[in-house]
Amino acid sequence: VAALVRVPSRFGSYEIRFGDERLVGELPDRCWIITDDNVRRHWGHVLPKDAPVRSVPPGEASKGIDEFERCLEWLAQSGADRRSVVVAFGGGVVGDLAGFVAASYMRGVPYIQAPTSLLAQVDSSVGGKVGIDLPQGKNLVGAFYPPQQVLVGQAFLRTLPDRHIRNGLAEVVKYGYIADTELVERMSGRLEERLPEIVRRCIEIKADVVAEDETEQTGRRAILNFGHTVGHALETYTGYESLLHGEAIAVGMAVEARVGERLGVTAPGTAQRLVETLRQLGLPTTSHHLRDVEDLIDLMRRDKKSREGRLAFSLLLHPGACKLIEDVDVRAVEAALLES
Ligand SMILES: NC(=O)c1ccc[n+]([C@@H]2O[C@H](COP(=O)([O-])OP(=O)(O)OC[C@H]3O[C@@H](n4cnc5c(N)ncnc54)[C@H](O)[C@@H]3O)[C@@H](O)[C@H]2O)c1
Ligand SMILES: [Zn+2]
Repeated sequence: VAALVRVPSRFGSYEIRFGDERLVGELPDRCWIITDDNVRRHWGHVLPKDAPVRSVPPGEASKGIDEFERCLEWLAQSGADRRSVVVAFGGGVVGDLAGFVAASYMRGVPYIQAPTSLLAQVDSSVGGKVGIDLPQGKNLVGAFYPPQQVLVGQAFLRTLPDRHIRNGLAEVVKYGYIADTELVERMSGRLEERLPEIVRRCIEIKADVVAEDETEQTGRRAILNFGHTVGHALETYTGYESLLHGEAIAVGMAVEARVGERLGVTAPGTAQRLVETLRQLGLPTTSHHLRDVEDLIDLMRRDKKSREGRLAFSLLLHPGACKLIEDVDVRAVEAALLES
């Protein structure tokens, strides 16, 4: 294990370790592992032989109350106690679910994030947001509950399907545009070889931002939401069926860059550059649903960043810098949706 990143947190700091698949072979004693069937099929053999493992069906449906309850009952039935450590071994679905199970069981037991998807490695495993979905909406129940440790096994990405690699790359583009233009430049050429350093840089950025505003009090953490006001609206509108999260926020970033340019917040030409970056990576930058302007804006008014129905967006100032802007003029949003 070469390097570490340390993330400060109100519950005490935690470390992020980088390495290969052997990272999860050396888990502490008394580990209860939650994974999904795909990850177990590819990588189950690297887990410690004697640890209890619960594997859930792959997909967002496993982030519901039913699976949450089954995981808690599994812990109780198999004798987990306050000294037990839950391990989330999988993508963001497993990470959010297992993290919230750990936050809830016996009022909280420690847990380790061992993310296996690119999205989980660069985003969901760091920062301590855990939770589950309700039929009424995604991530409606949850907690800020930082892990004890994050184990980033870069080898796991070898079996991740291409579409899910691109899905994670959308978040990488986001980090580049909100905080580090060099990161964007590193994304051209042969990506596989550069992924380890790219993942590491994204985690550093996220750790820095989270350290400044762990529980979303100051608006600083909101910059991680660039592309997400429109992206989440699009995901909800399309019912989470056709678009993956990264695909929706790719479209969202393109639209929001245009919102910013229209408001004079974002430097001219930024949207064009961003669209080119996304296209080169094979990510979508538009959707025919964008024409359903009123429905999408209704959904955006329900975004967690908005207050009293006023639209709030995390907008780029220029490539490499981002800021939360509250009370955005709805006409700029309408125009940007129709233009995209
Ligand atoms: N907590 C946060 O801060 C945060 C941030 C972003 C996203 N999320 C959540 O993350 C979830 C999405 O995460 P995701 O994109 O990782 O989805 P996911 O967990 O469904 O994983 C995507 C797919 O890849 C498969 N997979 C994962 N690792 C693999 C591997 N190494 N080899 C082969 N297949 C593998 C999974 O089985 C699944 O089919 C959403 O529920 C979202 O709300 C949370
Ligand atoms: Zn995201």
